[in-house]
Amino acid sequence: MTKFFIYPVFFVCITITTKAQKKTIDQKVDSVLRLMTLDEKIGQMNQYNGPWAATGPLTGNDDIVTQIKQGKVGSMLNVTGVARTKELQQLAMQTRLKIPLLFGQDIIHGHRTIFPIPLGEAASWDLKAIELSARIAATEASAAGVHWTFAPMVDIGRDPRWGRVMEGAGEDPYLGSAIATARVKGFQGKGFGNIDALMACAKHFAAYGAAVGGRDYNSVDMSLRQLHEVYLPPFKAALDAGAATFMNSFNDLNGIPATGNSYLQRDILKGQWKFKGFVVSDWGSVGEMINHGFSKDNKEAAMQAANAGSDMDMESRSYLPHLAQLIKEGKVKMVVIDDAVKRILKKKFEMGLFDDPFKFSDEAREKAQWNNTTHLEVSKDMAKKSIVLLKNEKQILPLSKQTKKIALIGPLVKSIKDHLGFWSYDWDDDTARIPSLYDAIQTKLGGNSNLLYSKGCNIIDTSKAGFAEAVATAQQSDIVIMYVGEHRAMSGEAKSKSNIQLPGVQEELIKAIHATGKPVVVIIGAGRPLIFNWTANNVPAIVYSWWLGTKGAEAIADVLFADYNPSGKLPMTFPRTEGQIPVYYNYYKTGRPAANDSDVNYVSAYIDLPNSPQYVFGYGLSYTSFNYSEIELSKTSLKGNQTLTASVTVSNTGNYDGEEVVQLYLRDMVASVVRPVKELKGFQKIKLSKGERRKVSFTITPEELKFYNTDLKYSWEAGDFQVMIGGSSTDVKTGKVSWVK
Ligand code: NOJ
Repeated sequence: MTKFFIYPVFFVCITITTKAQKKTIDQKVDSVLRLMTLDEKIGQMNQYNGPWAATGPLTGNDDIVTQIKQGKVGSMLNVTGVARTKELQQLAMQTRLKIPLLFGQDIIHGHRTIFPIPLGEAASWDLKAIELSARIAATEASAAGVHWTFAPMVDIGRDPRWGRVMEGAGEDPYLGSAIATARVKGFQGKGFGNIDALMACAKHFAAYGAAVGGRDYNSVDMSLRQLHEVYLPPFKAALDAGAATFMNSFNDLNGIPATGNSYLQRDILKGQWKFKGFVVSDWGSVGEMINHGFSKDNKEAAMQAANAGSDMDMESRSYLPHLAQLIKEGKVKMVVIDDAVKRILKKKFEMGLFDDPFKFSDEAREKAQWNNTTHLEVSKDMAKKSIVLLKNEKQILPLSKQTKKIALIGPLVKSIKDHLGFWSYDWDDDTARIPSLYDAIQTKLGGNSNLLYSKGCNIIDTSKAGFAEAVATAQQSDIVIMYVGEHRAMSGEAKSKSNIQLPGVQEELIKAIHATGKPVVVIIGAGRPLIFNWTANNVPAIVYSWWLGTKGAEAIADVLFADYNPSGKLPMTFPRTEGQIPVYYNYYKTGRPAANDSDVNYVSAYIDLPNSPQYVFGYGLSYTSFNYSEIELSKTSLKGNQTLTASVTVSNTGNYDGEEVVQLYLRDMVASVVRPVKELKGFQKIKLSKGERRKVSFTITPEELKFYNTDLKYSWEAGDFQVMIGGSSTDVKTGKVSWVK
């Protein structure tokens, strides 16, 4: 690409600002809009992918340099780094009105310093830590010229076949909303205008996670009550936290593609919720409405998307060639274009780009963030907090640092990049920064232990040629640590799977090693809940480590050798088989509920497997144990807006200091519509030293009792309620209250 000198600019807009210093941003936006031709306006609604990397199928091969100079581009995605963003911004400064470009990028779980995948972070239930992770990602990405992240993804994930569950916060609307808030706050920092604030983007609006069969991009058909009650709350939370932008989604919702869906974008988002930012389409989703059979060509797609409230066209090349003609034909009104452009310009003003388009183009700042050791330490801390201990029979964990011979077996033991996971870019391929588990354990134990290694098998192929050597290695050891799971491209966008068993022959390798009689610890690194029933039933110790980022291996080593006591709790239910999917804890009561897992007598059950999943939502162990007292309720009969306090005393009864996520669930016993068997309504993560006990209290008001009734009105009804508090969604203490109006 041609290099350009910084163009001597006299910004029209700055002139405007100087003439009327006191102008509000809205007035400034109006002043710019008045100067714009229709073509320039449409240009602002057009976003192209940069020529260096693509995160979707390219729909054309335009001369982007010329088009930027002609004012036909409002934003670019996948252009990162000060040098490249500066080069393109210089082109934008050659346009008539010198309107700066916005640079967007999927900064999903870190930029240079990679943090755990979002689903992993969600397992920490630690909102402050999650906010800090997003803050650091924003600090590094903004230093590399990025203005806007396409995150957080706030889609509810009830189907682990869908590979994109790795990008979200799991299955629960309450936890998902709290995490959406934390992430938006983290990305946007102290607010736009600050040099390290990234614009957030709540995506994918809406219900993308409910794709039929867990197949990415597939249709979604759901009741409006479920949409409002389960799928929309995290979006509303992101909006309330100030999310600058929304991205719509690839799926149709009840027959209308989200990109051309006025109910979602105009009625709910911009209407009821009064969203003031702008909506970007997903990659190519405007043009893809042709494939849906909803638009006959790109022109009709442009009309439908713009009228439905999609303000910017990402990479489908539908707006640029057709909107002007659609205006002439009266099929799109000028007010629609003006509204979209105003929303986009407003963000550019708020980001300070009209004052200084090169505000994010500081090479020295970029360099300073390239190897930020403080960020690495924070990412390690986040990684430790994300790890979930699933099983620990006979307290096999933690391991002694004095163990003489440790066998490390499995295809992930020496892997480097798999720690980074999907949605991490290749710029962090510095192996010195990303230790393998083998390296991390070796560093931790120094000369104390003799580490033996055998790969055993690959992640996906079916060869068992390495089994014999792995078994021989295990036989020479005192204890075996196995590290198995998915490689980093097995969960993510377009990574749906019908079979979510531990891939390849890895579970057979576990069986072979277990048969040696040596104590075995299995660590599973993956982007989604996997199925590993044999391991769950037979292996004494299991650690679920997701993909933990740059410092992931060190975090795992800290957990294995008790330098950190695991505290993560599952943000998604782990099924026993794919046949149980979709699977989630907050299901509705049926007319014929099964009494227990073996009850199949004319009840809602499978005759070939229990109803209960392998691991429930909210579950996770610690090296210590926690005891919960019975629930104490401040009242058992309440009226109107009174407040209920529900408390338990939690005691650390084990031998380690530890952290526990105390979870509050409510159940509405009888209502005008069927209510879930329980819903998370609060949680507190507490730290207790060994022997310590603490009273943990939750405040409950009628707000927590509300639901969407048959008229989709969000209100509560008088009646009886169950209050449950515990350390997972099933391990709870229960109390009862009645509440009248
Ligand atoms: C498609 C994905 O669905 C979306 O989440 C992402 O932001 C865009 N591609 C851009 O990479």
